[in-house]
Amino acid sequence: MTEKTTHFGFQDVPEGEKAGRVRGVFGSVASKYDVMNDAMSFGIHRVWKDAMMDWLAPRPGQRLLDVAGGTGDISFRFLKRAGHGHATVLDLTEPMLVEGRKRAEAAAMADSLDWVAGDAMALPFENNSFDVYTISFGIRNVTRPQEALNEAFRVLKPGGRLMVLEFSQIPNDLMQRAYDLYSFNIIPRMGQAIAGDRDSYQYLVESIRKFPDQETFLGMVRTAGFENAKYRNLSMGIACLHSGWKI
Ligand SMILES: C[S@@+](CC[C@H](N)C(=O)[O-])C[C@H]1O[C@@H](n2cnc3c(N)ncnc32)[C@H](O)[C@@H]1O
Repeated sequence: MTEKTTHFGFQDVPEGEKAGRVRGVFGSVASKYDVMNDAMSFGIHRVWKDAMMDWLAPRPGQRLLDVAGGTGDISFRFLKRAGHGHATVLDLTEPMLVEGRKRAEAAAMADSLDWVAGDAMALPFENNSFDVYTISFGIRNVTRPQEALNEAFRVLKPGGRLMVLEFSQIPNDLMQRAYDLYSFNIIPRMGQAIAGDRDSYQYLVESIRKFPDQETFLGMVRTAGFENAKYRNLSMGIACLHSGWKI
């Protein structure tokens, strides 16, 4: 029997190969990841992550699971807003977690954080364990995103909140074409110049175009069991926040 395939950027690859390739991409860019984020987005990713926190409104004492949490951007923001609480950062790529741990130590926040290597599709946690589940710019890299959403539902406590931040589709054709021109021409070149890695950033822009649009993804959030599911576009749909509740 032939193995099912999935997309890795614009290539089709056997499903079993995708996670290894994704790990290769983020292992290669880990030490330059934070610098590149600022350069590629002109710092706008910070505004989007702050908008995520505004909608999430973290509360003192909450337990966060930040999946595909990488170098910890979301967890750090969450803990600062909550005042006190606990965050578990889970990621497929160990070198991203290593960078995150260094940042936590520098910010004297290490006591409020755990760093766990793992896959969003098979979380190593009990049912009903967390108050909040976040995944920021991570789910488009997951081989079967619906399975990640199902896992999010499983590990959240009743009353728990899901929030997903991801690149999305711009509803205006002209704007989308202008954005494609920038992302396909400039971002891989920046990747080469700053991180010495054009291919990883070529994958990044291709993976954005393969990700489902806002409404399709909303349907997937509902399929996982989340209620009161909604989305908000950021920067006209370049990125989008999806929210849902386990009730
Ligand atoms: C673009 S980074 C996002 C990091 C961070 N959340 C942020 O917003 O800056 C994507 C991260 O997703 C992780 N990742 C990709 N597939 C994953 C999976 N199946 N399970 C867990 N993490 C995954 C990668 O290792 C990488 O660290």
